[in-house]
Amino acid sequence: MVLLHSLEALREWQINAGWNNVASGFVPTMGALHEGHASLIRQAKSQCNLVVVSVLVNPTQFNDAKDFDAYPRTLEDDAAKAKAAGADAVFAPMAEDLYGGQPSAKPVHWGVLTHAYEGAHRPGHFDGVVAVVDLLFQAVRPDVAVFGEKDLQQVAIVKRLAEERHPGINVVVGELIRDASGLALSSRNARLSEEGVEQALALSRSLRGLQAAARSEEDWRQALAREREVLANSPGVTLEYLDAVDAASFEPAAPGGAAAVHAVVAAHVEGVRLIDNAPLRT
Ligand code: PAF
Repeated sequence: MVLLHSLEALREWQINAGWNNVASGFVPTMGALHEGHASLIRQAKSQCNLVVVSVLVNPTQFNDAKDFDAYPRTLEDDAAKAKAAGADAVFAPMAEDLYGGQPSAKPVHWGVLTHAYEGAHRPGHFDGVVAVVDLLFQAVRPDVAVFGEKDLQQVAIVKRLAEERHPGINVVVGELIRDASGLALSSRNARLSEEGVEQALALSRSLRGLQAAARSEEDWRQALAREREVLANSPGVTLEYLDAVDAASFEPAAPGGAAAVHAVVAAHVEGVRLIDNAPLRT
């Protein structure tokens, strides 16, 4: 496994490794790798001969400078974990190198897809995600790119980006991984105390409540109203949103339709912003 710090080093490694002649996979990350990332890397490796994992804390997708500063940076540990999961190379460029100067992102207007839910609560976030993923796709040029289902809205946006600008890249979705207690794995969980972890479990409990309601054919709006109330009254939890959406368009879900529907939630616990989701109809 090699660690590559520049576009030139990536290009040279790709030529020597025969990147263009084999099935190539890519897993973009911001580092602080955990079991969720490891499972995406294993998934990429099961489908591809060569796999590149990128590690870059992308400045343009943070709408909160404190969040950017607090984001864990653990490259040595990340490289070891990527290697253990089967990566052939870790690409960890400087942001300025990838962006070709001062990092910046153009506004992207794809309706509710970029401007509702995460887009509404983190203005500019998806502009930065689209900018960096576009640049990473141009640099890495994989056949397959694996993105985690935990960032469900990001998955829908990246699929649209690939359709519009990188039709040769197959965007594959890796399953959301939870710990034994049900907490969705996230690099941000490391910032929660034991009590915070307990409080954060309210999110996955509410999602399970909505799944149970969907199974028993209870009206979603009624179940959503109840679970919003539960979360609003959960100690330590500051709810941003809980809703049921069409997983591809992020339009609010229509009961009775055929499209895949997910419940999506975002909340703050101990100042840490957490998101989670679960399928209600597949
Ligand atoms: O999901 C993430 O970790 C990031 O948004 C991504 C896709 C690596 C872009 O910086």
